[in-house]
Amino acid sequence: MTETATKSYTLIDGRKIAGEIKQEITQKVIERKQAGKKIPHLAFILVGDDGASQTYVDHKVKACKDVGFHYTMMRFADTISEEKLSKHIVAVNNDDDVDGFIVQLPLPPHISVEHITDKIRPDKDVDGFTNRNFGSIVSKVPLLMPATPFGVIELLRRYNIETEGKHAVVVGASRIVGAPLSMMLAEHGHATVTICHKYTVNLKAYTQMADILLVGVGKPGLITADMVKEGAVVIDIGTTRVEDPSKPTGYSMKGDVDFKNVAPKCSFITPVPGGVGPMTIASLLLNTLRATELSHP
Ligand code: GUN
Repeated sequence: MTETATKSYTLIDGRKIAGEIKQEITQKVIERKQAGKKIPHLAFILVGDDGASQTYVDHKVKACKDVGFHYTMMRFADTISEEKLSKHIVAVNNDDDVDGFIVQLPLPPHISVEHITDKIRPDKDVDGFTNRNFGSIVSKVPLLMPATPFGVIELLRRYNIETEGKHAVVVGASRIVGAPLSMMLAEHGHATVTICHKYTVNLKAYTQMADILLVGVGKPGLITADMVKEGAVVIDIGTTRVEDPSKPTGYSMKGDVDFKNVAPKCSFITPVPGGVGPMTIASLLLNTLRATELSHP
C-alpha cells in the first residue's frame, strides 16, 4: 500500500515558551515581595544610538516591567572613551542595589568588547559573557549561563526534543552564541557536536549530516533546503535587519535559514522572528532572578 502523507513540521514557538517562563518569574517576584525579599534589579548600559540596539534594549526593558523587576537605563554617547566606560562599569559592579547588568553590543570600534567584558563582575553578568560564566557551562557550580545558548537549550527541553546521542551541527563559532552553545549541547545535551565556521570547507557536507542544525551567523538565507536532512530539527539564531518598505518600521528581521523551503523538510523549526529571540530575553530574566537569589537569598 502506498501512502501520500502531507509533510508537516512543528513550529517552535519561542514567544509562547518565553511567555510561560515570564509567568513563572512573575510568580517568583510576587513571592519574594510577600516574603520581604529584594526585588531583582537589572541595569542596561547602551552606548551610542544604533537603532537595532535601542530596539533590543526596549524589548528587554519591557520584559522587566512585565515580570515586576526594577530596572535602570544608562545611556552614553558613542564618543565615550573605553576608560570612562570602564569606570561606569566598576560603579555598577559596586552598586549593591543592581543585581545584574548588561552592556548592549555592538560597541563603537574604539572600545574593546573583550576589555569591557573583563570588567563585568561575573555574578552580575546576566548575559553570561564573561570567561567565568563561559566556564560555568562545564562547572560543577554554574553561576550564570550564556543567555542565548541557555534559551536555545531550554526551547529544546520544553519541546521534548531529544539531544542525547544526536548529531548537532552548530554553524557559527561566536563567543556569545556558537561556542557556548556547542559546549552546552555536548555537556548538558550529551549530543555529538560539530562546529562549523567561516573557515569550514564544504559547509553543506556537514549540515546535511545534522539531526539538529543550529545556525547563528547573521547571513540571511545561508541555509537552503538542499543543505538540510529530511526530518532534521532546525534552530535559527540569526537576526539580521533588512530593509522592507512593506513594514511600518521600514525593515524586517531575517534569520539565517531559508524558512519557506527548509521548513517542509524539518520535524521542528524555529521562525524568525518569534523563535530564539524571545528566549534570549527570557534567559536574561532567569539569570537576573538567579543573580538576585544568590546575593539576596
Ligand atoms: N547584541 C546582540 N545580542 C546581544 C545580547 O544578547 N546581549 C548584549 N549585551 N548585546 C547584544
